Amino acid sequence: MVPDLSHFPRLPLGLWPTPLEEAPRLGEALGRRVLVKRDDINGLGGGGNKLRKLEFLLGQAREDGVATVITFGALQTNHGRQTAAAAAKLGMRCILVLTASVPRNGVAYRESGNVVLDHLFGAEVHVCESAGEAGELTDSLVAAETAAGRETMVIPMGGSAGLGALGYVAAAAELDAQLGELGITRARVVAPLGSAGTAAGLVVGAAGLDWLLDLPSVFRPADQARQRLMELVAETAELLGVDSPSMERVMVSDRALGEGYGVPTPQVWEALALFARTEGIILDPVYTGKAAAHLLAGGDGDSELPVVFIHTGGSPGLFAYQPELAAALGVDS
Ligand SMILES: Cc1ncc(COP(=O)(O)O)c(C=O)c1O
Repeated sequence: MVPDLSHFPRLPLGLWPTPLEEAPRLGEALGRRVLVKRDDINGLGGGGNKLRKLEFLLGQAREDGVATVITFGALQTNHGRQTAAAAAKLGMRCILVLTASVPRNGVAYRESGNVVLDHLFGAEVHVCESAGEAGELTDSLVAAETAAGRETMVIPMGGSAGLGALGYVAAAAELDAQLGELGITRARVVAPLGSAGTAAGLVVGAAGLDWLLDLPSVFRPADQARQRLMELVAETAELLGVDSPSMERVMVSDRALGEGYGVPTPQVWEALALFARTEGIILDPVYTGKAAAHLLAGGDGDSELPVVFIHTGGSPGLFAYQPELAAALGVDS
C-alpha cells in the first residue's frame, strides 16, 4: 500500500512523472532488459534527484515562513545547485556552505560544473577546508540571519532527512505505476547511494513490492552506508507512521567506490562512454557513473530480472572533471 503523503506540505518543483525509458542498445550490451528512470531530466535548475526531496523540505519551509535556506555539500554538490535553483524560483535566500573535501584542485573542479551554476542561481557561496570549519561557519550564519529577522532553515547534506526521503517514497509509487503499465512486477532497481535519502525513500516506498534494491555506495564503505541507510529508513517510516520495512531485499556494496567519494575509477569513464554511445544518455562521474560501473561489473542480485537504472542526475558536475574526461576519451587539446 502506498503511504499517504497528502498531509505533508509539498511544493511542485519538478516535472512528474519522469519518463521511464527502455534502453535496448544498452540492454543488448549488458545482456538483459534495461529501463532508465529519467530523474535527470525533471526540469528545474538542470534537474536531478534532489528536486523530489526539496518539494517536501521547501514545502515545510514555506509553511514555516522561512526566508533563508542554508545547506551543505562538497564543492561540486548537485544538491546545493538544485537547492539554489529552487530557492531562486521561490524567492528565498540560499546560502551554500561547501567543503573542499574531494582531492581535486584544478580550475575545472573549483570553478566549473555545479559551482558556477550556484553563483548563477544567486546563492551566497562559502568554501571551507574542513567539516569543523563548515559547522562553525554555519552557526555564525544562522545567528546572523536570525539577527536580521530572517527565519532560517538548515537543510542537512543531500537533503537527507526523513522529510526529504518522502520524495523517493512518492517516486517508488510513480515507478511502480509505470512498470505496471509495462506488465513488469519484478525488477532489480539500481540507484547510487550517497547521503542515503534517495535510497531510504525507495526502501520505504518499495515495501510490499517485488523489487530487489541494488544500491552501490559512492560515498562511504558499505557497512557504514548500510547503517546510515537503516537509520534513515527508520526515521522515514516513523514520520509516516508505518512499520520500518525489511532490509532483506536491499543490497549495499562498495565495489564501485574506488579510492573514495568524488574520485572516478577507469570503469566510471567506460560506463559513461557506454551509456552515451548506446543511448545518448549523459551520466556524471561521482554518482550515476559509479552506479553504472557497478552495473557493468554485474551488480548484485538476480541477473534474470529486468534492471531499472534510476538516473539521479548530476550531469552538470561532469564539466568539473573535464580534464579527466578528455584524457579518458583521448581528446587532444
Ligand atoms: C546525481 C546524484 N545522484 C545520487 C545522489 C545520491 O543521493 P542520496 O544522497 O540521496 O543518497 C546524489 C546526491 O548528492 C546526486 O547528486
